[in-house]
Amino acid sequence: MKHIIAPSILSADFANLQRDIEMINNSEADWFHVDIMDGVFVPNISFGFPVVSAAKKYAQKPFDVHLMIVNPEKYIEEFAKVGANVITVHYEACTHLHRVIQQIKNAGVKAGVAINPHTPVSLLKDILVDLDLVLVMSVNPGFGGQQFIPNSLNKVAELRKMANEVNPNLIIEVDGGVSISNIGSLISAGANAFVAGNAVFAAANPSQMIADLKQVDASSQQI
Ligand code: DX5
Ligand code: ZN
Repeated sequence: MKHIIAPSILSADFANLQRDIEMINNSEADWFHVDIMDGVFVPNISFGFPVVSAAKKYAQKPFDVHLMIVNPEKYIEEFAKVGANVITVHYEACTHLHRVIQQIKNAGVKAGVAINPHTPVSLLKDILVDLDLVLVMSVNPGFGGQQFIPNSLNKVAELRKMANEVNPNLIIEVDGGVSISNIGSLISAGANAFVAGNAVFAAANPSQMIADLKQVDASSQQI
């Protein structure tokens, strides 16, 4: 299966959100990546339910919701209600991660866990079998437009090895600083979903950039 491209609406023009959503609808993108930040788990605040609901009215592709918030268990059902198709919570924000994953699945949504750059993939060993997706943060979460942390490549490779044993259908998503120059290496390391904020929205032709990111394969490594 070809890899998934998920443009992050965090980098969209919020004053022209409908226009940017329609650009994504008409592009080769697969998902909308929706970054929720609470100013506590990360040092930034993004947007909440009213914006997600409003965006959902126009979006014609699945919503991949990335919760960078503390106590995510309080809001799972509400995010399912406003249209999340995948909900990813942070390993670092969940004391009872197994319970939260079951809660997401019970809400009829695909379940993901995100890990910060300092969190080893080995900590996911006993939860991997329950997951639809693991999101490897390749920057410290909180802001778009940061530089890719190279060690993320090793983390993806190690995670794919672990997943091959217990959960071969696991989606491995990379988030932060993904661009046309590192996506090929990430694909060959075993990732198959990519968030792209700055790479898409700062491009002269965002829709063409999405097509270019979609086009790359493992043979076109550039790192
Ligand atoms: C960062 C967010 C990312 C961000 C990616 O905390 O989780 O999804 O929007 O943006 P770029 O691709 O610009 O690094
Ligand atoms: Zn994200």
